[in-house]
Amino acid sequence: MVEVTSSINKKHDEKDEYWHRVIERKPVRLLVFSIIVIAIGGAVEIIPTMAVKSNIKPIAQVKPYTPLELEGRDIYIREGCVQCHSQMVRPLRFETERYGEYSKAGEFVYDHPFLWGSKRTGPDLAREGGLRSDSWHYGHLIIPKQWSPGSIMPAYPWLAEDDLNTEYLEKKITVMQSLGVPYPEGYEKEALADLKEQAKEIASNIVNDLSKEESNVSVDEIANKEIVAIIAYLQRLGTDIKAVPAEAGDEEIETSMK
Ligand code: HEC
Repeated sequence: MVEVTSSINKKHDEKDEYWHRVIERKPVRLLVFSIIVIAIGGAVEIIPTMAVKSNIKPIAQVKPYTPLELEGRDIYIREGCVQCHSQMVRPLRFETERYGEYSKAGEFVYDHPFLWGSKRTGPDLAREGGLRSDSWHYGHLIIPKQWSPGSIMPAYPWLAEDDLNTEYLEKKITVMQSLGVPYPEGYEKEALADLKEQAKEIASNIVNDLSKEESNVSVDEIANKEIVAIIAYLQRLGTDIKAVPAEAGDEEIETSMK
């Protein structure tokens, strides 16, 4: 009786196991097939997300970074600020109460690379622009503890000592253009002048704010330092959607803020 059942089972197994043998008993083959299956699943999800333009609703007020902000952004990347600061407000009550309007996909269209981050040792910076004064950022970056008691943020004093390297500015603008950032044609030649003008503005804000005892720096002294570029960048973050579109009435602003 026992013999009979086992021979029936054997027959059944051999027939049924054909595909099992072909695929699952050969580890390398199994790996290859698994990758193919996962790739199909991934492609089905990812390709439409990237290809369908209407997934990212364009926001008219979102403009490319100014040359100074672009340089500041690169310093932000170099110093690894993204390791401690995210740049994305999630659409959750406790986030919007703390940081403000949640982030929209259309706000990041000119971010190459994006800096959303994944860790918040420090607060989210997606809506940092305009929250503090230029001089607050200046002091805070040099000695965080002095401006934010108990802060564990590292100090970045060299940002106020090192001159901003603008050697690659032209190239950076050209590269951004090739990635689809709509700087006007030939803008790379004018970029440096714009950069200097904006740097001067921020430098004079800082000098005007800081009393003589706090700092004895002059506008010209700090206008070409790295710190001014990174402040320009921080002050831009998340401000675009608050800007009034050039030729729009109040009504349009309200709908675009929704
Ligand atoms: C080790 C983690 C860490 C790193 C790296 C770091 N930060 Fe911070 N940051 C913090 C913490 C913690 C706070 C909150 C305390 C404070 O205000 O200093 C903070 C606060 C801030 C704030 C104030 C936000 C606000 O309005 O309350 C700004 C702006 C900021 N960081 C910018 C930067 C920049 C720019 C860099 C890179 C040059 C940087 N951080 C690197 C941890 C970090």
